[in-house]
Amino acid sequence: MIYLKTPEEIEKMRKACALVSQTLGEIAKWVAPGVTTNRIESIAREFIHDNGGKAACLGYGGFPAAVCYEVNEIVVHGFPSNYTLREGDIIGTDTVVELDGYNGDMCYTFPVGEVSEELLTLCRTTKESLYKGIEQCREGKRIGDIANAVQTYCEHRGYSVVREMCGHGIGRKMHESPEVPNYGRRGTGPVIKNGMCICIEPMINLGSRNVVIERDGWTCRTKDRKPSAHYEHTIAVINGEPEILTSFEPVAEVLKDRFI
Ligand code: MF3
Ligand code: CO
Repeated sequence: MIYLKTPEEIEKMRKACALVSQTLGEIAKWVAPGVTTNRIESIAREFIHDNGGKAACLGYGGFPAAVCYEVNEIVVHGFPSNYTLREGDIIGTDTVVELDGYNGDMCYTFPVGEVSEELLTLCRTTKESLYKGIEQCREGKRIGDIANAVQTYCEHRGYSVVREMCGHGIGRKMHESPEVPNYGRRGTGPVIKNGMCICIEPMINLGSRNVVIERDGWTCRTKDRKPSAHYEHTIAVINGEPEILTSFEPVAEVLKDRFI
């Protein structure tokens, strides 16, 4: 069942999405060589709490943190730890904030210090593919049109698309119908309608598309241990067109010329 949102509900989604965007802006201030992911976790928790939000990931299906940490070969759902970020790493931080009963979900992959051109290009391409997907998110199109746009963009550039994880509907719950895969055929899947709120989140690998889940039951990494990038926005379909409810602007303001 796909829940279409009223304009009043979308207004609440906008507020939750503004807060999750600011949370990633706060995280952006701390991502640097020498910083542990545990430190980032405590800053993010405090920021969400101080701004009246709820860290929706914390306790979700037993997930132990407010934010998912995706260092290098980690694709999604990594835990915070005493791992110290190193120059040349890339780290995705993916988090969901609930505000006034509605959720905003967003991910940004940061370069840590100076990062190789190879990794920067992986990140840029992944982010560009997110916007290719968003372009397709229009009334009357289908979820497969989004999926195919992401897949085509990345595969034509020599990257591979993770298939085991996908985007999703969002609203009162963090995960609602429909599933939004990053691969598929045009003209297939559910029809996109006004009032739909979805998360598009390409997870794109430098090497092969295969992933494994670590023994903690959550951490998803590439099988070949090559790096993976991940960007995510929450989007609403309004007047037939996509409105991006989350924003990378708070991150851009912090990163300045290092913004990807
Ligand atoms: N954006 C991630 C997702 O949609 C957030 C997961 S939070 C977790 O899967 F709690 F499930 F880890
Ligand atoms: Co998501």
